[in-house]
Amino acid sequence: MGLFNIFSKKKTQSTLFYHTDVHCHILPGVDHGSQDVVQSMEMLKAEMDMGISRVILTSHVTAETFENTPETLTAAFGVLQKAVAEAELPIELHVSAEYRMDDYWNRQWEAGAVLPMPGNYLLLENSFLQERLDMDQFIYEVQLKGYKPILAHPERYAYYSQRRDRLRHLHDAGAKFQINILSLAGYFGRGAREMAVWFIKQGMVDMLGSDMHNIEHASIIKEYINTNDWKRLSLQLEGHIINDAVK
Ligand SMILES: [Fe+2]
Repeated sequence: MGLFNIFSKKKTQSTLFYHTDVHCHILPGVDHGSQDVVQSMEMLKAEMDMGISRVILTSHVTAETFENTPETLTAAFGVLQKAVAEAELPIELHVSAEYRMDDYWNRQWEAGAVLPMPGNYLLLENSFLQERLDMDQFIYEVQLKGYKPILAHPERYAYYSQRRDRLRHLHDAGAKFQINILSLAGYFGRGAREMAVWFIKQGMVDMLGSDMHNIEHASIIKEYINTNDWKRLSLQLEGHIINDAVK
């Protein structure tokens, strides 16, 4: 290999083995992710650099901080879709949300104010302090109503690391597990990284997500997927990940 090849190899961006990002905060102005359409477009271009051609927009829905509704999310979605069409960006967008299972969500859920992903998937987030007390009953109820629950980044809830049997139980009960690539990259610390690797070893990773809130997150992911660590782990994930089946 000549010098030219060494340099050109360094500049090559590796792409992901799947094409749908099921978790990101690219929708403009509705949470602490993208603040405007310019930032959203930059983040979508980063997604495309990584080989992503479909993006499910999953903005936060949380009590007090981001009390979004299907209406607020759909309005922002209209703005972004217009910009994407004008720029002729070849990327498919869908609007959904990341629902924190708190009191606000309980009211929205009861009222049927829910914006699921294609295929009726729902991205659900635990509190970082504890699991909801009626978690088993709730996961059952979600499925009874025809939705498919996805637990967002289970590797990030520290309380599960001492209760891994609980994770197996939830998975057996029908909850899909979505792991953050940022966790694998070490962005959330050693504990989350170790748990993320443990999920892979257990064969309990159903989906991967960028969970990108800004262009810095996108850069970290782009850099990480160029590493041998990612190449080694992704070999264990290929064939198990159902990101592209969310439709
Ligand atoms: Fe998120």
